[in-house]
Amino acid sequence: MTDSPIDSVLEESRTFPPPQHFVDSANQTPADINQLYDAAASDHTGFWATQARHHLDWHQPFSSVLNASDAPFFRWFEDGELNAAYNCLDRHLPERADQTAIIFEGDDGQVENITFQDLFARTCRFANTLKASNIGKGDRVIIYLPNIPQAVVAMLACARIGAIHSVVFGGFSAPAIRDRINDAEARAVITADGNYRGGKLIQLKKTVDEALAEGCDSVETVFVYRRAGIDIDLNSARDVDWDKAVAEQSTQCPPVAVDSEHPLFILYTSGSTGRPKGIYHSTGGYLLGTICTCRWTFDLGERDIFWCTADVGWVTGHSYIAYGPTACGVTQVMFEGVPTYPEPDRLWAMVERHGVSVFYTAPTGIRALMRQGDEYPERHDLTSLRLLGTVGEPINPEAWMWYYRVIGGERCPIVDTWWQTETGAHMITALPSYTTTRPGSVSKPLPGISADILDESGERVETANAGGYLVIRQPWPSMLRGIWGDPERYRETYFGLFDSFTYVAGDSAQRDADGNFRILGRTDDVVNVSGHRLGTMEVESALVAHKSVSEAAVVGRPHDVKGEAIVAFVILQANASADNLADELREWVSKQLGAIAKPEEIRFTDGLPKTRSGKIMRRLVRSVARGDEITQDTSTLENPQIVKQLQAEGH
Ligand code: PRX
Repeated sequence: MTDSPIDSVLEESRTFPPPQHFVDSANQTPADINQLYDAAASDHTGFWATQARHHLDWHQPFSSVLNASDAPFFRWFEDGELNAAYNCLDRHLPERADQTAIIFEGDDGQVENITFQDLFARTCRFANTLKASNIGKGDRVIIYLPNIPQAVVAMLACARIGAIHSVVFGGFSAPAIRDRINDAEARAVITADGNYRGGKLIQLKKTVDEALAEGCDSVETVFVYRRAGIDIDLNSARDVDWDKAVAEQSTQCPPVAVDSEHPLFILYTSGSTGRPKGIYHSTGGYLLGTICTCRWTFDLGERDIFWCTADVGWVTGHSYIAYGPTACGVTQVMFEGVPTYPEPDRLWAMVERHGVSVFYTAPTGIRALMRQGDEYPERHDLTSLRLLGTVGEPINPEAWMWYYRVIGGERCPIVDTWWQTETGAHMITALPSYTTTRPGSVSKPLPGISADILDESGERVETANAGGYLVIRQPWPSMLRGIWGDPERYRETYFGLFDSFTYVAGDSAQRDADGNFRILGRTDDVVNVSGHRLGTMEVESALVAHKSVSEAAVVGRPHDVKGEAIVAFVILQANASADNLADELREWVSKQLGAIAKPEEIRFTDGLPKTRSGKIMRRLVRSVARGDEITQDTSTLENPQIVKQLQAEGH
């Protein structure tokens, strides 16, 4: 396969109807799906009410389905009460207490099977531990743990007592944890001593101690799970040893019924300003979204072994590890390590070892493993797989075809799922028994999801393959309920462009003549590195915090494996020298924000393209970073000559 544009056009016109053998054994038949689409089209709220009654167990049934009187602050099922942990655990026990909930494989290859009964008991014990430290309904708890079952236990334990968790990805650094603790005013942190990933030690407790060394006055307790077995400092006034504490607690803890709208969790994500946004989700609506999509998109049922390779620190790990599969009573694999350790066949070895039937991962991972060569997947029997999924960024047709051919054996449908931290669950995706797929296309909106494409003036884009703003025109149950502590920012960011019913996703998209969507990229200052969202301003703020840096402009440029890579243009302070500074700055950003934010390239310069009002023209900087021809009008710049200079400096 070559990279020529003609080839890629040819590839994109290839279509893949659902394989008959898949349709014949699917849990959701094409007729079922048609019924869902019809029901949603004829009565949007009635449809969601039916789903909510069918898929969730309510302590107190709801009578109000959607309250839109204060749009864009929508309330779903607001007079209903339920408990998320009850829905993920207790309700399965009569039938599947002994069924495996989690097949956990550690970095070192050790495997542990955890039944639903066991997950229930561990969750209750830890919930009681939280209660013993006086944590209860509405309190915020930061979770900074490896991708291990204790993270799921911690999340479900919070949900059980109505506490609101905020998971911080284990790769984030101390300042990032500190910001999140302070924004959420968290009363507790749950962490581990450390863990091994790819054989390398990650020191989690040390990083938490560093975060707590300055400010963070709200934190009263730190729970520490011993995963690595390393020496750590314990502060007897504040730190609690997880294992010792849970040993004293009962394996029963009554679930606290909360309002459907009670926040289940906060998850921080990047936006176009320097400050991360605390996206928060409701209990009832969110859980419903994760369950419906596990059933519809992944076709999950009794026989499945599901594996979502995401980390619980991201929304994908929330919806498709901690909540969706558990609420559906499905067996899943959870993995602590990295795909290339001890060898680049790790994921494929695990698919074979655990008999994985539905596999969900990110394009960046597929591209990285594709580069390692076919010999690694070919070492393993992958015939247990029946369905493949991707998420996080556009998948290039070459990677799609490789996934289809080499991993799926030309037997498994691929669902390319578009969604966001804000949407809580899949929004636009193929359905495996139903959709004819096309590499690079995310297909159509799910039942009950009114995705559309609008132009600048808010008119629907009717022309096939013309670009526009991706929007959702009606509220849906699993949508975010706000930005923690900042309702105005929520309104402005998501509903500011058109009206208070039109959710603006921040992506641009196009639609073909058959109504299939293709995602083109972000419309705001956000880069997507390996499927993870980073605000360019966050990285710029980190750079200018360095003593030698006066100004910085950060942009993304295409990268073969990561999707996008960060390029930083840096203006130094008058007396600073660029000698050996590039590596120092890359390390500096990594320390401030975490390794994923580390710039791929630093370019020193003495000027940046600015408007007369002093705003950096990032679009121009981006074109320079990509080596594109500059077609924009540069005459309005304060310093038009700078563009040529930047281009020349890049050579
Ligand atoms: O730009 C879109 C891209 O990822 C963004 C959401 O990022 P985040 O909230 O971190 O959640 C990632 C996992 C849900 C979107 O605005 N994105 C997500 N899925 C796709 C995608 N781009 C293209 N195709 C997808 N399937």
